[in-house]
Amino acid sequence: MAQPLEPTARSDGHNAAKSKPYWVEPVITMVILGVWVLYSLWEVLFHNTGTYHNYVSPYFSPGVGDWFGWHVLDALYVAWVPLLFRFSCYYYRKEYYRGFFWDPPACYAVDKPRPRYSGETKWPLAFNNLHRYAWYLALIVLIFLWKDAVEAFFFKNGFGVGVGSLILLVNAILLTFYTFSCHAFRHMVGGKKDCYSCDGKPTTSYKLWNRVSQWNTLHGTWAWASLASVWAADLYIRLLIMGVIHDVRLF
Ligand code: FES
Repeated sequence: MAQPLEPTARSDGHNAAKSKPYWVEPVITMVILGVWVLYSLWEVLFHNTGTYHNYVSPYFSPGVGDWFGWHVLDALYVAWVPLLFRFSCYYYRKEYYRGFFWDPPACYAVDKPRPRYSGETKWPLAFNNLHRYAWYLALIVLIFLWKDAVEAFFFKNGFGVGVGSLILLVNAILLTFYTFSCHAFRHMVGGKKDCYSCDGKPTTSYKLWNRVSQWNTLHGTWAWASLASVWAADLYIRLLIMGVIHDVRLF
């Protein structure tokens, strides 16, 4: 059975392995994602609206329930898209496989609970290979979230800026970075090519792939930041609807 590697001493006296044990990150992931899933279940299963005047919660947008006159569990008609996108995300897979399944709990330098690891070649984890298709659905939802962000600046008495307007705008920006830094999108715009200049054509795809690659280096950051912004936007609007807080108009 493999044993955890001994911490490596560095010449400057700093011991990287000792400063952060391998299990810290999985445990933090487990706590944050666990609380978020519970919150999302509460939001989706116990509420039928996410609209407060010109603010629309990202859990309820687009308003599919309104389009068809279905007003039971309205958020369920759309919330599955960002959930599928997020839970099949390559970055989140690493995080929650480690945090919830402990399989593997970290890189192969630490032990694993079972000898065989089939990854995503078998059901049910093979389901995560739908990620590339979930990207297109997430893009449609993102377009609606941008529409909501713009409309959040238009109140009954005209243009204005409220705290909710800013939260929804920041949320749309962070989700844009998260969506367009996606590994699958990077592959779509150029990652699948072996040579950018072999056909003698201008290498627009190379430039695009390069830009996406830059964003992609921070994909984990965009993933957590956008999760926090979605959560904050929904919670803010929920508290407004419940009358717990009042929106602050900046002007
Ligand atoms: S890999 Fe994370 S959103 Fe695609």
